[in-house]
Amino acid sequence: MGQQVPVLILREGTKREKGKGAASGNIAAARAIADAVRSTLGPRGMDKMLVDSMGDVVITNDGVTILKEVDIEHPAAKMMVEVAKTQDQEVGDGTTTAVILAGELLKRAEALMDSGVHPTIINQGFRMASEHALKVLDGLGEPVSVDDRATLRKLAMTSMASKSASGSKEMLADIAVDAVRAVAERRDGKMVADIDNIQVVKKQGGAVEDSELIEGVIVDKEAVHQAMPKRIEKAAIALLDCALEIKKTEVEAKIEIRDPGQMQLFLAEEEKNLKKMAEKVRASGANVVFCQKGIDDIVQYYLAKSKIYAARRCKKSDIEKLAKATGAKVISKLDDISKEDMGKAGLVEERKIGDDRMTFVTDCPGAKAVSILIRGGTEHVVDEMERSIHDALSVVSAAVEDGRLCTGGGSTAIELALKLRDFAGTVGGREQMAVQVFADAMEIVPRVLAENAGLDPINVLIELRKAHMAGQKHAGINVFTGKTVDMKAEFVLEPTRLGKQAIESATEAASMILRIDDVIASKSGGMPGGKKGKMPPPGGED
Ligand SMILES: Nc1ncnc2c1ncn2[C@@H]1O[C@H](COP(=O)(O)OP(=O)(O)O)[C@@H](O)[C@H]1O
Ligand SMILES: [Mg+2]
Repeated sequence: MGQQVPVLILREGTKREKGKGAASGNIAAARAIADAVRSTLGPRGMDKMLVDSMGDVVITNDGVTILKEVDIEHPAAKMMVEVAKTQDQEVGDGTTTAVILAGELLKRAEALMDSGVHPTIINQGFRMASEHALKVLDGLGEPVSVDDRATLRKLAMTSMASKSASGSKEMLADIAVDAVRAVAERRDGKMVADIDNIQVVKKQGGAVEDSELIEGVIVDKEAVHQAMPKRIEKAAIALLDCALEIKKTEVEAKIEIRDPGQMQLFLAEEEKNLKKMAEKVRASGANVVFCQKGIDDIVQYYLAKSKIYAARRCKKSDIEKLAKATGAKVISKLDDISKEDMGKAGLVEERKIGDDRMTFVTDCPGAKAVSILIRGGTEHVVDEMERSIHDALSVVSAAVEDGRLCTGGGSTAIELALKLRDFAGTVGGREQMAVQVFADAMEIVPRVLAENAGLDPINVLIELRKAHMAGQKHAGINVFTGKTVDMKAEFVLEPTRLGKQAIESATEAASMILRIDDVIASKSGGMPGGKKGKMPPPGGED
């Protein structure tokens, strides 16, 4: 053999990190994400203030919101953000939990790797552990039905416990439960509660207590003309996605008018055409019009004269909701308008909300439609309220759909840890070590809950383990008193889906990150340790 010639396969400037360096760089970045949201967990968690490059401020406690707002460059860190996003999509709550669980799994896996266990073995152990944990969770869960308002209410309250809207929790919980129950239906023997059918409308001003649940659709538009009626019973609704004005020509056109008489004629002709438009609407029997495009002043005048309520420039999504709720067909050509296309509603009304006027369409015959109108003093309050309501709607709908719930406050996590340690004993080989480590990682939830409450995490964990060993399956940490209490009796409840999804996505993300032993980053890409990808050092050591 001759002399070895180095073969270059990567473009110049490509950065590459292999083996231990790659793994620890990725783990450090991922853990930094977990540490970033750690302090927000639980009712005594803190909020974060995020300022974007435009100077806009968001104040929140919501894991996924924080991670979505922050500009993250590192590829492994981005995978952690995906954990939060998946949790948000699948459950809608528990985003912080899922992320800190993934971070803890990685931290403990790294220690195992340092003591010589291969990542593949760790991943196998993690997979076995997570499968077992999901089974245990199913067994721990308790049934809940859609008719159990009181329990669903507690579930909603738990999800909002950590949000700053806590003051008006009871009222918001009622709204959330009623809203989900209104859209819940049995389909092929299964409960479905699609919260996409619940419209959440924010309107700054007033007090949080002025928030309300509306059985119907809210359109954030007012009547286009002062003289229009503000209240229409037995509404016949036309939905238009064509304009009620004369189209400006696409190409530039010039009309030459030589004498005032011609001018008069031209204007009269135009007015005649516009009047005809209003006449067509009136002839169709509509007494309410929602138009996606504009409505000319003259048309407005004639509509008002015919006592027709009209709103213009409505959002497409609102038009679609109205179509579903009222049974109207969207009309794209005014000439095609007919009686059959009309939707129905018991009442269409313009109401003054704060400084604005909005249109409320209630008593609809079509698909179930409910809306939640959120009020609050400032934009920040209204925004965080919206996030709170979103969490509450999500957990209630998850519980209604699956019919199962677990207890919170770290109780389920400790029970899982206990059961997983038992399970580890039955697993042979080195995988056993990984199962053991997985069990330890589960305890991160009560640990952080205690930490954020200013309690001593070690003492809390010892107490909790003792209680669970003695068979108290629901023993968790009361973050206000520091005492070990029965979370079922305290009504700290979560849908079982929350824990399951958190375990699944945390395990998946940790495994994916652990499997990487080579990072090849092109010139412009982020790189562990590189300038762009640099993450703050992980803190929050125990
Ligand atoms: N009253 C309570 N006492 C103790 N723990 C609670 C209480 N209410 C909620 N929790 C716990 O707080 C955690 C949720 O905190 P949260 O900040 O909403 O994070 P996440 O983004 O994971 O939902 C859960 O572990 C839940 O069990
Ligand atoms: Mg939550």
